[in-house]
Amino acid sequence: MRKISYRELRKMWFEFYQEHGHSVIPSASVVPENDGSVLFTTAGMHPLVPFLLGEKHPAGKRLCDIQKCVRTGDIDEVGDNSHLTFFEMMGNWSLGDYFKKEKVAWSYDFLTNPKYLGLPKDSIAVTAFAGDEVAPRDTEVAEYWQQVGIPKERIWFLPKSENWWQLPTGTGPCGPDSEMFYDTGKKPCSPQCSPACDCGKYVEIGNDVYMQYVIYEKDGQAMPAKQRNVDTGMGLERLLCFVNGYQSVYDSELFAPALSIVASCTAQKYENALKEYRVLVEHTRAATIILGDGVVPAATGQGYVLRRLIRRAVRMANKLQCKPDVYEKLIHFYISFFQGIYQIDENIIKTFLDEVDKFSKTIEQGMREFNKILPYLKDKKFSGKTAFRLYETYGFPIELTQELAAEHGLTVNMAEFAVAKQKHSELSHTASVGTFKGGLADTSVETACLHTATHLLLAGLKKMLGKDVVQKGSNITPERLRFDFNCDHKLTTDELAFLEKFVNDAIKQKIPVTVKEMSISEARAMGAEGSFANKYGEVVKVYSIGDVSKEICGGPHANNTGDLVSFKIIKEESSSAGIRRIKAVIKK
Ligand code: ALA
Repeated sequence: MRKISYRELRKMWFEFYQEHGHSVIPSASVVPENDGSVLFTTAGMHPLVPFLLGEKHPAGKRLCDIQKCVRTGDIDEVGDNSHLTFFEMMGNWSLGDYFKKEKVAWSYDFLTNPKYLGLPKDSIAVTAFAGDEVAPRDTEVAEYWQQVGIPKERIWFLPKSENWWQLPTGTGPCGPDSEMFYDTGKKPCSPQCSPACDCGKYVEIGNDVYMQYVIYEKDGQAMPAKQRNVDTGMGLERLLCFVNGYQSVYDSELFAPALSIVASCTAQKYENALKEYRVLVEHTRAATIILGDGVVPAATGQGYVLRRLIRRAVRMANKLQCKPDVYEKLIHFYISFFQGIYQIDENIIKTFLDEVDKFSKTIEQGMREFNKILPYLKDKKFSGKTAFRLYETYGFPIELTQELAAEHGLTVNMAEFAVAKQKHSELSHTASVGTFKGGLADTSVETACLHTATHLLLAGLKKMLGKDVVQKGSNITPERLRFDFNCDHKLTTDELAFLEKFVNDAIKQKIPVTVKEMSISEARAMGAEGSFANKYGEVVKVYSIGDVSKEICGGPHANNTGDLVSFKIIKEESSSAGIRRIKAVIKK
């Protein structure tokens, strides 16, 4: 296998698409302009939305670029082989110009032609949209894949949850997509094994979205678009990793030198502290880019995300007992690494180090305080009031306290935290807590429906496992829900099927979701379930789904369970000792 460098890969991408008549456009900032609906640019198409909707682009109808993107929804996964909070997306677009036939041919050529990536032809698998009531099965794209040489057995038709792309806001240009996968050659994990499965056999390389539809308003149906576009996105870091035959993105030149810098600043070995090393370099890299685009640490918005990244990096450096110059060395490395690609002002080092200082001064005291509290905790509960004190006095972001608590098998009482915080200040806690979820304003239709799905899931779990099952954590991004609960065993296939059926039955019954305000004691008296992370003081909101579920919750929710269309569990795994985690999606 030949080696391809970062700069070669970039050059190759631009040259390939220039040969096919595309103009190269520069990356936009990671902070979206004129768009308050998302905190960060999460995909290459984001800055191009007006042009995808028909406005004329000055550079023409065929564009390509490499866009800086930030996605924080999976921040907890950073440290594994592939998840990153900052990544570069290689993109190309047809704005009402070529469509599926050309795009399939070029995607295949770029992946397999020895002049370009030269991946073995039989290592490529692809997917196509299976069709639903809005859009038909994409047999057209499958035919083109067959024409270029992908055999039928390596073309998979998958449902909307896998093969449909739209913005996380739930509006704008959208459509069926066709994803490209690298088949690692591993044995299929089951007869059902497919690119939708995360057993590791198939690794996603890229995505061609065929934007034939537009959702004009929240809750709106996808309508046929006046202008049909192509939107391609390929994750540069992952691609660079496996075209060079690496196991992990951290083995590539994007991270390996940074890991060596860390190694020179600590006595601990990389092999023994993978997560700490990786999170430290990954977050410092992301923070360097975000600072470079003009964001400064703050209590809300992008600045809060940045602050959290820096503080998590500091915590890892502390765990490794790194010499204090580690940050400066890492930032210098990344500034020069990106030289000529992204101009990053050296002054950002001072901003970064100021934030480190601010945090370091209090973190030691805070950690001491945290460790003092630990022996007194009852019932595996970490009091929300204490979490608030750590937040207020020591500047511990609540997520940090949650992470520290989880390391000791504890959960923070988030409801209590929210009450304490609300009492203390007029600032909405969503400004500092809620916005971190995927870096998105979390009021989209998807979020509301996934929230309702979460209540139904908990009701199903209680029915199946008994009333002692409680929520141990919940996180919703526009794509999926993640729900943690107490349970002493891995759920069986039958149990998962029971849960899916339970939720889907409630969806089929089209039950209205109602909300009533009442005092906490009234809520308790009516048997409402308490949930985390929602602001409630004296008066709480109780969301009822017929007789199926009653939960204290801040919302937002779907108006009717029918809005969810269907519910599917995509993963069941251990979260920590005695806590299981379910990830699920809905088909909206
Ligand atoms: N916009 C598409 C994606 O992010 C390419 O996958």
